[in-house]
Amino acid sequence: MIALFSTKTALFPALLAGAILCAGSAHAQSAAAEGQKLAFDRGKGNCLTCHVIKGGEYPGSLGPKLVDLKSKYPNRADLVAIVTDETLRNPQTVMPPFGRNRILTEQEISAVVDFLQTL
Ligand code: HEC
Repeated sequence: MIALFSTKTALFPALLAGAILCAGSAHAQSAAAEGQKLAFDRGKGNCLTCHVIKGGEYPGSLGPKLVDLKSKYPNRADLVAIVTDETLRNPQTVMPPFGRNRILTEQEISAVVDFLQTL
């Protein structure tokens, strides 16, 4: 019993380190999938309330259709900034400042941006 317990505790940091060190396209793909989940989740990003997004159901139209964002914003930091706090760019915007209001963490915003770059 004690031996089993210590094996598990030894394994956990190893898995964690593996997850953190994980890089490359497999990681980017899973982050984008996670970002899509967050974007479509009505209790999280809820982006579909205002944006048409490929693969999403019942979109609203308050915001522009999210498409071809990689060519519109080649600089990833611009997309991070928009999702974090669009009021900095446009004080009149109705888009919630997901980062400033802590609706999404920095890590979640990063995943959402990975997803946006696939659109
Ligand atoms: C309440 C409505 C609303 C919600 C919810 C919303 N947005 Fe927006 N979004 C807008 C509006 C309106 C704009 C147009 C730009 C502005 O208002 O400054 C915009 C602009 C954008 C842009 C720039 C698009 C372009 O073509 O320039 C991106 C990217 C974006 N939103 C991503 C998101 C993401 C990702 C989410 C979810 C995490 C989200 N938005 C949620 C309203 C919204």
